Amino acid sequence: MPKTRPSPSAAAVRELFLLDRAVTHLNHGAFGACPRPVFEAYQSWQRELERSPSLMFDVRLHGHLAHVRSVLGAYVGADADDLALLLNATVALNAVFRSLRLSAGDEVLTTEHEYGAVLNALDSVAARTGARVVRAAGSTADEIWAGATERTKALVVSHVSSPTALLMPIERLCRLARAAGVLSIIDGAHGPGQLAVDLTAMGADIYVGNCHKWLCAPKAAAFLHARRDVQSALVPPAVGWGFGETRYEPSQDWRSARDPSGYLAIPAAIAFVEVNGRHAECRAILRRARTVMTEAGFAPFADEQPIQLAYFHVPDCDPAAVTARLREEFAIDAPVRVWKSRPMVRVSVAPYNTLQDVHRLADAMSTIFASARRS
Ligand SMILES: Cc1ncc(COP(=O)(O)O)c(C=O)c1O
Repeated sequence: MPKTRPSPSAAAVRELFLLDRAVTHLNHGAFGACPRPVFEAYQSWQRELERSPSLMFDVRLHGHLAHVRSVLGAYVGADADDLALLLNATVALNAVFRSLRLSAGDEVLTTEHEYGAVLNALDSVAARTGARVVRAAGSTADEIWAGATERTKALVVSHVSSPTALLMPIERLCRLARAAGVLSIIDGAHGPGQLAVDLTAMGADIYVGNCHKWLCAPKAAAFLHARRDVQSALVPPAVGWGFGETRYEPSQDWRSARDPSGYLAIPAAIAFVEVNGRHAECRAILRRARTVMTEAGFAPFADEQPIQLAYFHVPDCDPAAVTARLREEFAIDAPVRVWKSRPMVRVSVAPYNTLQDVHRLADAMSTIFASARRS
């Protein structure tokens, strides 16, 4: 993420988002948010499509999407020909898991830190094939790789984990997997737009990235990057006109009627985040948030990391009820979740956030838990 000029202020960036001003938004990691210039690009593609659907689908779309893949490829350090555009991480990972040639007794190694829907997708493939999903404990490369055996066929790890907000040691894990002949699959839902992603250097066999989270693209916009030698094994989410194509990207595109405008707005999203991403500032806010939250009695779950989201411990509670109170009584959007019996609140720091937002959360949480102690 090269930086060529000083970052705009959070207040100036906030003006560019469509977010409800009455709400303190600290949940960017869940669904992202699309700023006005990117949303306008998206709507303008929708209008262009509706002006002449056949011209768009039959003549122009292919070239437009090739341009998107080339801009995206430059941004994530990949060859455009190795990128397929897909709706979201869930769809892309389902397609990848269903493409795995697994037999009874084979193992897929993953971690305790994966996203629930992704674990469900893995479990459903395991139930159908008789393979076993091994959830390694721990978050270091050695702890995770300790779960590998001679039956391990694939490794599935998040770039940044959803239930714990950890930057996972994926480069080392990809190297270990490659040396052992295990297919490495990285769930990069939280990667692009939050971290500098260089897919060529990373060396994963498969990397799925969401553009609609930290890259601020419209929903739904994601990509599936695959190394050349594994591409032909990937079955697309739906088989349609792309069937029989030998080139990777066309083979993944079922090309039936759909709205491609989210994909077409990805270059606008990249341009927006390159100017307004405020990555260093967001990390600095999260660093100071650790002190603010700790002083309010909510200790961080993990050591400081170079990312834009973190969890903080909260006392035992009904997480859904606390999330609802934050939303309804305090107009704060921040999820309280439980991971391995630990209730925690997640703070995402996006370019429109300030430390003041975190102070509001800390004050609200203090009030909620003080009243819980009294009752
Ligand atoms: C780590 C991780 N993987 C996958 C997903 C699913 O992303 P999507 O809803 O775009 O399919 C999420 C969503 O939050 C996530 O955090």
